[in-house]
Amino acid sequence: MSSSKMRHCLELSSWIPDQYLFFFTQIQKTKQSGFQSLKKEFTDQCVGLIFQEPSTRTRVSYQKAIDHIGATSYIVENNSSLAKGETLADTIKTLQSMGIHHFIVRTSTDEIFEIAKCYQKGFLINAGSGTKHHPTQGLLDAFTIWENFGKLEGLQIVLLGDLMHSRVARSNLAWMKAFGIKPTVCGPASWVNDFEPEHVIIEDDMTKAIENADVVMLHRIQKERFREEEDFQQEEYFQKYCMTIEKLTQTKKDAIVMHPGPINRGIELSTDVADHEKSKILQQVENGLWTRICLLQTLLRAGSL
Ligand code: NCD
Repeated sequence: MSSSKMRHCLELSSWIPDQYLFFFTQIQKTKQSGFQSLKKEFTDQCVGLIFQEPSTRTRVSYQKAIDHIGATSYIVENNSSLAKGETLADTIKTLQSMGIHHFIVRTSTDEIFEIAKCYQKGFLINAGSGTKHHPTQGLLDAFTIWENFGKLEGLQIVLLGDLMHSRVARSNLAWMKAFGIKPTVCGPASWVNDFEPEHVIIEDDMTKAIENADVVMLHRIQKERFREEEDFQQEEYFQKYCMTIEKLTQTKKDAIVMHPGPINRGIELSTDVADHEKSKILQQVENGLWTRICLLQTLLRAGSL
């Protein structure tokens, strides 16, 4: 990834394998060097974090990343004027008037793409928009897999669970497409049938889906996004699609299990799976921080060229 080319980070569809690999190398080097080697080089920069939806790992990792590089973060959540009807665009203009020009935004809509069309003053990062895009989760997941296997090409990947409402699944599909990976999607029919068959293999039987998998990516049941008529039978879901220790033992020796979090123990996965050595959930969280440090450095350096 050439830093001079990058202005915003909204989605991954335009990224090519070389960009990913360049970025992974940068994350790996930064992670190996550790926090003490990070320079507070951006003390004159302010970043607004506008989070209209709940978040723990994404928001805190951005805040911590901003601290490590010496910039200052300002947080606007739902207890702000957004709750009084102010639009995202007006909130951004308001913060800009105070000298905050870079924004990291989480929203339930794709409004950020419209705003980005004419946004020149700083960078915009999409920290999760609606059900389609969560680019840094896609990057950190891809990096975590690359870190575990030393490659992405040729891996057998299974996406399991509530994929219909998942922006994480769609961002992961973007890099899989770039690397020529056709993953298996598995879950209740209404949650997987919308995926284009040229890009995924649909498998209803979880046992078959996971038997040859290198990576099993679990996804949270996002009840807050369900339509009123949507019918979810938790017990039936658990029986068919929950990753239990019995199912985990059927996976390959080196297979890994991932989940973007927040996890619901006893729904998407059992407690013993969450804490199992094959689970890379906390490694994903750790890598989220390093991914965001490198992304912020890249965007801020590009802006100062
Ligand atoms: C995800 C999100 O918000 O899209 N979480 C995250 O950012 N790590 C997934 C989810 O909410 O289930």
